[in-house]
Amino acid sequence: MQISAVSKDINEWSGSVLIAGILEGTIESHINLFKTIIKDTYLSKRFNDSKFKGKKNQRLSIELMEGTIKKVIFVGLGEAETLRINDLRKATSICTRQVLGFERKLGIFFPWDIFETSSAACAVGEAVRLSCIKDHRFKSESTEHTQIDEVELIGLSTKTTNSAIAEINPICEGVKFARELVSAPPNVLTPYQMAKEAEKLATNYDLDLKILDKKECEEKGMGAYLAVAKGSDLEPNFIHLKYSPNTVKKKVVLIGKGLTFDSGGYNLKVGASQIEKMKYDMGGSASVLGTARTIAELKPTNIEVHFIVAACENMINGSALHPGDIIKASNGKTIEVNNTDAEGRLTLADALVYASKLKPDAIVDLATLTGACVIALGDEIAGLWTDNDQLSEQLTKAAGKAGEGIWRMPMQDSYKSGIKSSIADLQNTGPRPGGSITAALFLKEFVNSSIPWAHIDIAGTCWTEKDRDINPKGATGYGVRTLINWIKELSLNAN
Ligand code: BES
Ligand code: MN
Ligand code: ZN
Repeated sequence: MQISAVSKDINEWSGSVLIAGILEGTIESHINLFKTIIKDTYLSKRFNDSKFKGKKNQRLSIELMEGTIKKVIFVGLGEAETLRINDLRKATSICTRQVLGFERKLGIFFPWDIFETSSAACAVGEAVRLSCIKDHRFKSESTEHTQIDEVELIGLSTKTTNSAIAEINPICEGVKFARELVSAPPNVLTPYQMAKEAEKLATNYDLDLKILDKKECEEKGMGAYLAVAKGSDLEPNFIHLKYSPNTVKKKVVLIGKGLTFDSGGYNLKVGASQIEKMKYDMGGSASVLGTARTIAELKPTNIEVHFIVAACENMINGSALHPGDIIKASNGKTIEVNNTDAEGRLTLADALVYASKLKPDAIVDLATLTGACVIALGDEIAGLWTDNDQLSEQLTKAAGKAGEGIWRMPMQDSYKSGIKSSIADLQNTGPRPGGSITAALFLKEFVNSSIPWAHIDIAGTCWTEKDRDINPKGATGYGVRTLINWIKELSLNAN
């Protein structure tokens, strides 16, 4: 898909579908503006008949009989004062979806100038691309659909926007990669296959790669991670990718929960716990690897980025973890496993210890960690836990820019009593109330406390059950664009 800014007049544009965003109260001027494309008396009548006033979410499609343009979709944007870039994303994806499968060339005409134009252009370009992605990999017959292959953002000054537009493709490829990893079934995307995907990234984009096998993890004393893995016939793979620029001024680590399947273990997921969905329990690692792909292509300066995934499955066999087992993590802490379904935190524990040893300036982990977070925040907002206000601000800003929902949650230290064990240093689950908080507190036990660290629970956001905004039904790739924004900002400010 070729996305470009064109500074030409709307009346000189040619293509199959024109999407025009209309602010409330600007109908009259648009009737005049569009008059060589649609006869003014006719357009005025159509606006009148349909009561189209440019209110947010109003839409009016007009089919044209003459000329190259087949259809104009007017989409209401509401009042300028309340209009946000995220509204442009939403409007773009609704209109894109309306023509998906039928049209090749779109033109998008928005009131760009009320925004910082390069951000608006980038957001809208991404919205078109990301709304179009369909995963056909597992269909036996390829369904031939007309692809949108050209998108022109009309009325933009190309001078200021071209460099931002050039980033759309690498960013969307990262999101697409993350979505594909998540939607791949657990018999395809195994821990080994995840390592293979990391290997492909490393060779294609010149990243450093280290894969620790089971034996090497044993040598490092990763007893928590390995305890989860041992119930599966598939061996664990601890993945460590590194992007390094020419000069390094800052170093960060991204960690993703990488359970390629979570059956719950002996605390088997039964009833309404949706075991059949648990291929997406590697959503965190997908976002981290998706980010790796984009970062490796954008090559931000000054910042070294490590990408870590302790990949494995949570299964049941004769040597699987028993409920009640006591295991030891690589920082020496002992854990009584009072629930084998709280496995993500066990794998993350050793990943966090490993990350801390790299002495980074910050660690961020993403994990489909708790059902409680889904109950608290739903599927549009991820939970953010950190003791570091600056890191919280940075990530909240990065997510806001990406249009990804995030909300800081309390790291309530007094709830630590919930994960106290009478026989070991810790137990892996606390009481049901505040279950996402005790999960975050558990993770905190494995981070070197002098390193700023944030935990993002994406259990709700990594998947959507229906087409929602720029996310078609299925895997969302949540987090990739937030992490990219964060790293880009760190890169700019590193000194
Ligand atoms: N992967 C799940 C969390 C999850 C649940 C993600 C629903 C997406 C949707 C995690 O491993 C898990 O099973 N957590 C348990 C923790 C409990 C045993 C304390 C949960 O949330 O039920
Ligand atoms: Mn689980
Ligand atoms: Zn899990």
